[in-house]
Amino acid sequence: MDFEQPSLLERVVENLTWYVLAPHVHGRFVRNLQLKGGEHVLELGCGGGMMTRFLSDTLTDGTVAGIDTSRYWADVARKRMSGRRNAQIICGDVRELPLEPGSQDVEIVHLVLHDIPSVERQSIIDALATALAGNGRLHIKEPTRESHGMSAEEIHDLCACAGLRELRREHSSSIFTGPLYYGVYCH
Ligand SMILES: C[S@@+](CC[C@H](N)C(=O)[O-])C[C@H]1O[C@@H](n2cnc3c(N)ncnc32)[C@H](O)[C@@H]1O
Repeated sequence: MDFEQPSLLERVVENLTWYVLAPHVHGRFVRNLQLKGGEHVLELGCGGGMMTRFLSDTLTDGTVAGIDTSRYWADVARKRMSGRRNAQIICGDVRELPLEPGSQDVEIVHLVLHDIPSVERQSIIDALATALAGNGRLHIKEPTRESHGMSAEEIHDLCACAGLRELRREHSSSIFTGPLYYGVYCH
């Protein structure tokens, strides 16, 4: 997908996903995080805010910052999140944001890293590791298909190089993405 100028078909599919699939996929993902409600959450590659809305619903006292490099999708997410006081959408590069070190309790990377050029992945994970709180958790879910995905080992190695260790790993599969890796990391 061209994230800056999605086609009509891509926009229609995204809208259908928002209404039909997201409560099951993104909603369930957020429920499984078992948030207490007061966390500061950073979501890398928030797209149109598919996951951001469930995070915002769950964070009674906390906040969610959705970050996306696409002006198009950041605008869509900003419109959808308007009126929610605990959700902020930032269009930009996580490596260039003035994030306070250790400020994020939870970080989420959901179907994003595999779309980022390989040479940029380490510096992005490094930025996330720096912003992650001492007792924080980084959750990464990515497709592992060779044709469109990345290997679990690469994700593990990127995180290890950033000083993070894998707490949990799960493998699953979806008809839309094929095989998926889900890893939870901490300092
Ligand atoms: C497949 S969408 C996933 C959206 C969302 N995470 C979800 O699960 O519904 C990938 C998103 O990542 C964004 N993206 C790509 N590279 C990025 C980067 N370096 N930093 C932040 N966002 C990025 C794209 O603009 C796009 O909106």
